Amino acid sequence: MKKILVINGPNLNLLGEREPGIYGDDTYETLCSKIMDKAENMEIKCEIFQSNHEGAIIDKLHSARLSCDGVVLNAGAFTHYSYAVRDAIAAIRIPVVEVHISNVFARDEFRKNSVIAPVCKGSISGFGLASYFMAMDALVNYNDEI
Ligand code: DQA
Repeated sequence: MKKILVINGPNLNLLGEREPGIYGDDTYETLCSKIMDKAENMEIKCEIFQSNHEGAIIDKLHSARLSCDGVVLNAGAFTHYSYAVRDAIAAIRIPVVEVHISNVFARDEFRKNSVIAPVCKGSISGFGLASYFMAMDALVNYNDEI
């Protein structure tokens, strides 16, 4: 795996300000720089994309199929209801790992269902920003396990 794409969905640009008791104090910029450091350590190329718009995320997934080897996706609330994001993941042949900063199973009832999980390679939830690093590791080092 040479290049991965990290996609962040709605409201993740407000990390650090947004519900810090749930998502922590680190800003979105801090998250991005930690992801880039991790990628450098892993000796892989990495692009980061954030959008609050469903269609933009779908367009990015489509273009990733031609330019990247795998995707780490925090779809935010789209996780729980976007069949369009789900279909985009199913349409591309590269592996997608679902990530969540918070433990979505320990929160509201509606967060316990992920409509994207069945079409993702796997899911990581509840480890704060480390969820992203674990997902990068899974994508790059364990994608061929099954
Ligand atoms: C989230 C969890 C989602 O339920 C929520 O809508 C988010 C963030 C997380 O990273 O914990 O926006 O994906």
